[in-house]
Amino acid sequence: MSSPVPSYRESHLGRGVDYHDRFTRNCRRRMMWQIEQGVLDRVLDRFDEPGCEPAASGTRPPIDYLDFACGTGRVLAFVSARTASATGIDVSGSMLDVAKTTAPSAELVMGDITHESNTLGGRTFDLITAFRFFPNAEPSLRTEAMQALVSHLKPEGRLVFNNHRCLSSLRKRLVRGLTLGRRGRSGMTRDEAEQLVTSGGLEIERIEHAGVIPEYERLILRPRWIVERVEYLATRLPLAGIAENLVYVCRRPAAAAAADRIRQAA
Ligand SMILES: C[S@@+](CC[C@H](N)C(=O)[O-])C[C@H]1O[C@@H](n2cnc3c(N)ncnc32)[C@H](O)[C@@H]1O
Repeated sequence: MSSPVPSYRESHLGRGVDYHDRFTRNCRRRMMWQIEQGVLDRVLDRFDEPGCEPAASGTRPPIDYLDFACGTGRVLAFVSARTASATGIDVSGSMLDVAKTTAPSAELVMGDITHESNTLGGRTFDLITAFRFFPNAEPSLRTEAMQALVSHLKPEGRLVFNNHRCLSSLRKRLVRGLTLGRRGRSGMTRDEAEQLVTSGGLEIERIEHAGVIPEYERLILRPRWIVERVEYLATRLPLAGIAENLVYVCRRPAAAAAADRIRQAA
């Protein structure tokens, strides 16, 4: 009898420093992370624009921030430097042990976002991030997590998540071509990502992209300065169709949140 397929929930139990260090040790992962930081900075800049509640001078913008599947605190530490409050949630205690050191001022919650018993309760946030989660998770977990995240997002709040294993990327296409379709099939399509967003009643505000050169983290092309120059330039060109990493900035329309409240009250 075959054993049941484990859920992605269990994927990082017992992991920690080994995962975290790859963002500094591996030059492709490091470059991707630098590009993602630029996207996050632009998202945070918009919270400072006219129309958003201004922060008192010298204080951080009044953003309540949640990092879902925060892992070792990579994204949490970066974003929390610009928010009034920061909370990270993850099921893996060993990943959170690292987050305690990387994001010491954030509140860390050990729990499964899809379980009502998680200690976030009815709290809602202006900004939620979810990096390196959705394309790795099995389809049922993707849907459950999206529903849970939407329930924790304030009206007009933003969800920023990425699909770092986009199936239309040049790299995945090459892998499928070279292996006659046997490999290069794990990840998420652009349609699947968009359906996930729509299923949560969110609107895609914009999609940024990174990683058009077909290289592997274990098969790095050189010289790096040329590869990186091309990759940075490519982020400004209309190349999302072949990029490996798509970052979605999504908005929860106030009208959708109001409709939810009416439905719940009925
Ligand atoms: C690849 S790591 C991403 C960590 C971090 N977001 C980053 O980008 O570096 C994915 C994380 O999702 C967590 N995870 C998986 N299912 C979860 C769930 N249902 N609720 C909370 N965390 C979950 C895992 O424990 C793991 O730490």
